[in-house]
Amino acid sequence: MNVLRKVVGIKDLRDARAALPEPVGFVPTMGFLHEGHLSLVRRAREQSASVIVSIFVNPTQFAPTDDLDAYPRDLERDAALLQEAGADLLWTPTPEIMYPPNFQTWVDVDGLTQPLEGEKRPGHFRGVTTVVTKLFNAVQPQKAFFGQKDAQQAAVIRQMVRDLNMPIEILIQPIVRERDGLAMSSRNTYLNPAERQAALVLSKSLAAAQSAYKKGERNAETLRGMMEEIIKAEPLARLEYVSCADYDTLEELRELTGKSLLSMAVYIGRTRLIDNRVLG
Ligand code: PAF
Repeated sequence: MNVLRKVVGIKDLRDARAALPEPVGFVPTMGFLHEGHLSLVRRAREQSASVIVSIFVNPTQFAPTDDLDAYPRDLERDAALLQEAGADLLWTPTPEIMYPPNFQTWVDVDGLTQPLEGEKRPGHFRGVTTVVTKLFNAVQPQKAFFGQKDAQQAAVIRQMVRDLNMPIEILIQPIVRERDGLAMSSRNTYLNPAERQAALVLSKSLAAAQSAYKKGERNAETLRGMMEEIIKAEPLARLEYVSCADYDTLEELRELTGKSLLSMAVYIGRTRLIDNRVLG
């Protein structure tokens, strides 16, 4: 069994990385790992000679009203899970390492960051693309693994890597769900039992729209309306958006003709959850 090595500083990371066999697969995370993260680590293990995981709760992708301070953390448990999943190196940089005093450089992806999560969470993607660029610069992986659960994030990172000619292959892993359909998320821990039950409206409404699509429904407004109705019927749910968009451009559709993305953000009590499904 491999032994997980843990580093904090960038020089220690670089020294440890230099000793690892290539290709290096990288899984960036914010910790409090669940089966979704571990599926990325296992895929990285299969597809790379070495696996590096980072845990960093990135303050710049949280709005002042978001849950940065409350974001769940358990480094010891995470390290044990990573060791078991076969990671070689865990990097846990501090905020001072990632954002030294007088930090002034940002990475911004334009069009793809405008709708959906970008519209509801201004500045979020600027924080994500900046930190992911910094993580990539430090780790220098050949491959990086992200989850389809954050579908727009995956699209934005693919775009950024293409636009900036980063020599990194981006691999997207399917959403991992609980047995009853709830998409795994570190934020699920905020839900009380009644909210946990109510949270099923996300996957249920996506499943209903997918089933209508399979029966031939191609009108995007009808599919959006169907999802909206199911969510609004749940008293603990507050809909932020539902979308039926082109998979590549993320522009809202009138008719579904090619690969499309159904997605949504819903508050269950005070917890904001997202989920999606790809059609076509
Ligand atoms: O998906 C996440 O956990 C974060 O957005 C990421 C990619 C680790 C950047 O902070």
